[in-house]
Amino acid sequence: MKKIMIQDLHNHLGETIKLGAWLANKRSSGKIAFLQLRDGSGFVQGVVVKAEVSEELFATAKSLSQETSMYIIGEVKKDDRSSFGFELQVKEIEVIHEAVDYPITPKEHGTEFLMDNRHLWLRSRKQHAIMKIRNEVIRATYEFFNDNGFSKVDPPILTGSAPEGTSELFKTKYFDEDAYLSQSGQLYMEAAAMALGKVFSFGPTFRAEKSKTRRHLIEFWMIEPEMAFVEFEENLEVQEQFVSYVIQSVLKNCKLELERLERDVTKLEHIQAPFPRISYDDAIIFLNENGFDDIKWGEDFGSPHETAIAEHYKKPVFITHYPIGIKPFYMQPHPDRDDVVLCADLIAPEGYGEIIGGSERVHDYELLKQRLDEHGLDQKAYAWYLELRKQGSVPHSGFGLGLERTVAWISGAEHVREAIPFPRLLNRLYP
Ligand code: 4AD
Ligand code: MG
Repeated sequence: MKKIMIQDLHNHLGETIKLGAWLANKRSSGKIAFLQLRDGSGFVQGVVVKAEVSEELFATAKSLSQETSMYIIGEVKKDDRSSFGFELQVKEIEVIHEAVDYPITPKEHGTEFLMDNRHLWLRSRKQHAIMKIRNEVIRATYEFFNDNGFSKVDPPILTGSAPEGTSELFKTKYFDEDAYLSQSGQLYMEAAAMALGKVFSFGPTFRAEKSKTRRHLIEFWMIEPEMAFVEFEENLEVQEQFVSYVIQSVLKNCKLELERLERDVTKLEHIQAPFPRISYDDAIIFLNENGFDDIKWGEDFGSPHETAIAEHYKKPVFITHYPIGIKPFYMQPHPDRDDVVLCADLIAPEGYGEIIGGSERVHDYELLKQRLDEHGLDQKAYAWYLELRKQGSVPHSGFGLGLERTVAWISGAEHVREAIPFPRLLNRLYP
């Protein structure tokens, strides 16, 4: 008999099919057993009615332990009470492997316990839903950039230079040299944009940040588009189109998952371009007038500041034109002001914080050289990057979207650690 996956059951109404599944949960009485089955593609209820099956099968059903694996044969029926819409009338159960003392029971568990059992916790309904949403964000990302003329380019992970500051680097030996795990592929993506026009990358990045917040991971995944001949404002337009596309794709393709997470989708439905913009100058005034009288022009925002600004809007908001002193060396200064740069951070609603950092890049050779000096960076390590400004340099812009913060926001997860399968955190390298 051909095996069917739960996600395809709707095509087999009334048929008797075979399913490979695990037992997620079970309820039973003397007359009936309800088996909550999962196969990775979804969850479905299997019903075993004592009066309709052999005594042996009913006894097997009642004795199944949580996470036991099995093949099941059953008839696909409509079930209007569940939002999935179908259930399985069980006819045969063939146990493959009996699980013993599965540690994650349906009762409440503490976070540390769940994190220690991350290799198993991934199987639970909510974690499964978040991983499915993560997958949809990735799928929609590739679709958006492929449909808009971008080529995917893969920057290296082992690098010799540091785009986002030299203090948060993971250093490793590269034979006789020092190498660093990539903090961002941006510098390479700039070179690639000069070859392919519009490019995007998607890969892991590493920050040896001693931050222990619900927004920080040590290893996270970033989507980094870079575009030749694209200036500051055009860059923001791509970002708002991209984020809207991702949100609308998840709303369309992950209905069951959002429901399982009890996500309030009315907070996502209206997320469509354009997004509001507020300058850093105005953001400082806004904060000073709204209970944050201590923050002064020139200082960077912390989470409470970002959250206060974001709460003022229902959509993600761009904070633009930050002071030059708190941003990296590669950002293009404002044409009429030397104290701010042509950059923007995109702040998500509901307290999820900065999901995108982006800017127009310095494309003038002398200016870039000067900026490297001002940041005390080694000209030799950046020689190839500087040379891009000698060989047909053009205005160009790009940005980086943090995947886990975006997934946490869309899923309504409490912490970014739930938005990545195996989080690397300050105090956690296992599992
Ligand atoms: O603002 P960041 O540091 O920007 C860059 O790395 C640029 N080079 C990107 C570019 O222009 N190509 O990081 C970009 C995004 C942040 O907005 C945030 O979403 C995410 O990456 N991010 C983190 N996510 C989880 N944990 C961390 N420690 C993060 N640090 C940054
Ligand atoms: Mg940033």
